[in-house]
This record gives sequence, C-alpha cells and structure tokens, in this order.
Amino acid sequence: MGGALLLPLLSLLCFGFLKGARPSTFTVKNNCAYTVWPGILSNAGVAPPSTTGFALSPGESRAVAVADGWSGRMWGRTLCVQSSSSGAGFACATGDCGSGTVECSGRGAAPPATLAEFTLASIGGDDFYDVSLVDGFNLPVLVAPANGSCPTTDCPTDLNAQCPPELRVIVAGATVACRSACEAFGTEAYCCNGAHGTPAACAPTGYSRLFKAACPRAYSYAYDDATSTFTCAGGSAGYGVVFCPAGGSSGNEASPPTSAAYPPMVFSSGGADPATTRHAVTLLPLLTAIFQAMTTR
Ligand SMILES: *[C@@H]1O[C@H](CO)[C@@H](O)[C@H](O)[C@H]1NC(C)=O
Repeated sequence: MGGALLLPLLSLLCFGFLKGARPSTFTVKNNCAYTVWPGILSNAGVAPPSTTGFALSPGESRAVAVADGWSGRMWGRTLCVQSSSSGAGFACATGDCGSGTVECSGRGAAPPATLAEFTLASIGGDDFYDVSLVDGFNLPVLVAPANGSCPTTDCPTDLNAQCPPELRVIVAGATVACRSACEAFGTEAYCCNGAHGTPAACAPTGYSRLFKAACPRAYSYAYDDATSTFTCAGGSAGYGVVFCPAGGSSGNEASPPTSAAYPPMVFSSGGADPATTRHAVTLLPLLTAIFQAMTTR
C-alpha cells in the first residue's frame, strides 16, 4: 500500500527536480548581411555549454542549451578566416578569442566587441542580463527574453558609422569596430580604476555619452549600471540573441568589407598615442594573415 503511493510520489519529485534543473535555451540568430561567428565564454567555475563558438550565415540561427544557473557572455566575431584545412589557424578581425579554432574553449573576446552578458537564476530566482559596450563595439546586438513580460535590451545601432576617428578600427578602408575610450587611452577616468575606481568617482565622458546616445539601453562605461542592467524576475526559459537586429540590408548595421573587395591591409586609428600603437602591433599580424588567406584562396 505504501509502495503503491511511493512510486508516483517519487516520480513527481523527480519530474519536479528535472523541470527545475532544465537548461535554458539560447537562440542565437544572425540578421547581418555577412557571416558572424558567435563566441560563448562561461564565467569562472561555470560549466561551458556544448559549443563555445560556431558560424552563422546571414539569416541563420542556432539553439544552444545552457545549464540552470549559467552565467557568462556571448559576442559575435566578424571577418574570420580559416587559414589551414586542418581546422587550425582560425582568426577573426573583430571579437577574436585567440583559440585558433572556431570553438573559443574558455577564451574571451579581444576588444573591441559588443558583449551580451548573462547571470541566470538557479531555480525560481531572478535572471540578470545586459548588452555592454564597456569593451567597445563591433556589431549591433539584441537580447530578448523568451518570457515576454521581461524587458528586451540591445545596442541596435551601427556605432561603427558614428565612431570618432581616434577610436576606429579600420580594415581595408572600412571601420569594422569602435574601441572604448578606456582601451584607446587607458586613463583612470575612462577605465574607472585607480582614483576613479568607484561609481561616484567615475562619471560619463564625451565618449561614453556618444555610445549611450546611440544605444541607450547598453552599458556605455563601467559604472553605467542604473540604466543598463536588466532583470527578469522569476527567470526566463530562454533568450534570443540577435546580431544586427535592425536587419541585414537596411544599411543600419555594421558591414565589414567582403573578401572580394580586399585591398592590402591598412590599419589606422588616430595617430601615434601609445595605446594605438600597441593595438596596431597586436592586430597587424592577424590582419596580414587574414589578407594572405583571402588572396591565396
Ligand atoms: C516571467 O516574468 C514575469 C515578470 O518578471 C514573472 O513574474 C514570471 O514568473 C516569469 N515567468 C516564467 C515562466 O518564468
């Protein structure tokens, strides 16, 4: 008699447990007119999803399951090239994670890159998410909770088109990314560290205001929390992450040059300040490799 009751009770408990622990599904979609290679980095100590990097052709989408309570970030890589047929030698002009392969395998995006950041609830708690330009911008991104009562956040505008000359990352004459003032100039006031390491001591700057005007819901500098972090109370079963939410042919999205149009590489971004020079030194071998791969194809 007790046994007859125990079995349904046990299966109910098990079902309840499995339901609570079900993964969240991210639906990653590429609305850009060019291929995007999403990258995924889990926070320290958080198990990675089954993929940490893949390609999405224009219009393509892919579902990625993450475990209950997952936290981490997603971003889009652009202008990527596979320089060897063995699967090695993979590199991207923007958002590169330095793994040498399409999978990022625990490595994060090289700035500048637009980031979608998530801290998902364990069972029944609240999810937190944001779109961040703190590490700069490379392409428009939108984050839409599957739970329709929770707010969407985004940076839908092509900031490359509005990027001040001193922040531009230029490949073959086209602006392919826009650096943060922190990355470009490295000062405490721009980076919100040192004497400017508290919210009260790190105010918006002309550069962060420009980012904020273009993308009012996104983080424009490190302490831009009040208008940039979004909460889904009770959580969401999943999230849509859309690259170029405004579409691929509206002219309102980042548009890296095509391989056919590739003249010799030019890197230019605002003169001879030390940060620019450092950046050029790290990017130049990569860009040269991409150019060589594209011309020998
Ligand atoms: C959806 O969000 C609303 C508002 O935050 C919340 O009350 C509700 O519990 C959520 N629903 C689900 C199924 O997670």
